[in-house]
Amino acid sequence: QKGGYDTFMEKEIHEQPYVIKETLRGRLGVSDVVLPELDLAKIDWKMIERVYFIACGTAYNASMYAQDLFRTWMPKMPSFALAASEFRYGDYYVDENTICIFVSQSGETADTLAALNLAKEQRAHTISVVNVLDSSLARKSEVTLYTCAGPEIAVASTKAYTTQLVLLVCLVLGLVQHWKETIPQIQEIVKDLDRMPEIIETILKEDSTLQEYAQLLKDKHDAYFIGRRLDYYSVAEGALKLKEISYVHADAYMAGELKHGPIALIEPGTVVVALATQEEVAAKTISNIEETMARGATVILITFQNQDTSKFDRVIRIPSIHPLLTAIPAAVLLQMFAYHAACIKGCDVDKPRNLAKSVTVE
Ligand code: F6R
Repeated sequence: QKGGYDTFMEKEIHEQPYVIKETLRGRLGVSDVVLPELDLAKIDWKMIERVYFIACGTAYNASMYAQDLFRTWMPKMPSFALAASEFRYGDYYVDENTICIFVSQSGETADTLAALNLAKEQRAHTISVVNVLDSSLARKSEVTLYTCAGPEIAVASTKAYTTQLVLLVCLVLGLVQHWKETIPQIQEIVKDLDRMPEIIETILKEDSTLQEYAQLLKDKHDAYFIGRRLDYYSVAEGALKLKEISYVHADAYMAGELKHGPIALIEPGTVVVALATQEEVAAKTISNIEETMARGATVILITFQNQDTSKFDRVIRIPSIHPLLTAIPAAVLLQMFAYHAACIKGCDVDKPRNLAKSVTVE
C-alpha cells in the first residue's frame, strides 16, 4: 500500500512528478493553456469586476500564490485571497460580476463549502479547483477543475498542494487569456510548466541533504521561515507543514517584516529557513538573512542557480526555471525538510495529533 516507502507522506512526496504530469495533461499549448471548462461558466468577461480566491490551510497558501500571479498579470482587476472562514463572516462584496475561485483537496471542507454557498446566494460565478471527484464542492460549483493527485492518505497535504499550484497557474493563465491581456514570457512559462515533472525529479534528489539539515531541529522547539514576494507563500506552507507534523513551533515571515518585531526572537542557534528564489528581490532578502546570522541564527538557504552564496554554509539551489514557478520545486524541498524533522523527532507523520484529513466542522 505504501509502495515500499515507510509512510504515506513519503510515498506521496515522491509521487509528485507523476501527479503533476497527470494534472497538466492536455492543458499546455505552445503559448497558451487549454481550459475548455471555463467556457461552461457562460461568463461575460467584460462585466467582471473582482476575483476572490478562497480556501483553508494549505489550499489557502496555494490561493495566495494564485492571487499574486493573477495580480501580476491583471493588475487593474481587483483580486483577493481569503481564508474561507474569514470570507464567510467578513461581509466582502460579492455580486454577479464577481468570480469566486475555491481551492480544496477534499472538496468537503465546511468553511470552504459555506463560502461557496454564500457566493452562490449572491450570484457570483463559482470555479473550484478540487482533488476528490464528485465531492460536494465539485458538484455545487459552476465549473470544476480537477487536480489529478490521486488519493492523499497522509493528513499533511503534499501532492495535493503542488498539483493545486500547477493547476492554479493554468487557471490564472486561462482567465487572463479570456481578458486578452498579454502575459510576458508566456512561452517560457508554459515550457517550464511542461518541464515541471523532471524538475521535481531533480529536486527529490536533495532528500538526503534535507535529512541532514533537518537534524538541526533535533532538540529545537522553534524555527522561522522567511521569504519575499512569491517566496512568502512558499515559506507560509513550509512552516505549516513543519508545525503540523513535527510539532516544532514554526512561523513564516515576509523577509522585510523581520526587523519590525520578529527579529527579537532570533538567538544563537535559532534555525531560519530562508527562501530567495526571486532574483529581483534576492539582494534584499539576503540582507535580511544576514541580519539573522548576525544574531547567531543557523540558516538554511534555498535559492536560484546564480546567486552568490559564499556567506552561507547550508544551501540548496533550485534548477533554472521561470521565477514565477519556483514555488513548485520549493514546496517539495520544504515538504522533505518537514518530513525528516518529524521522523527525527519520532512523530507519527501520517497521523499528526489533533488533525483530521477533512475538516467538516466549522
Ligand atoms: C495541511 C492541510 C490542511 C488542509 C485544509 C483544507 O497539510 O492538509 O491545512 O489544506 O484543512 O483542506 P481541503 O484542501 O481539503 O479543503
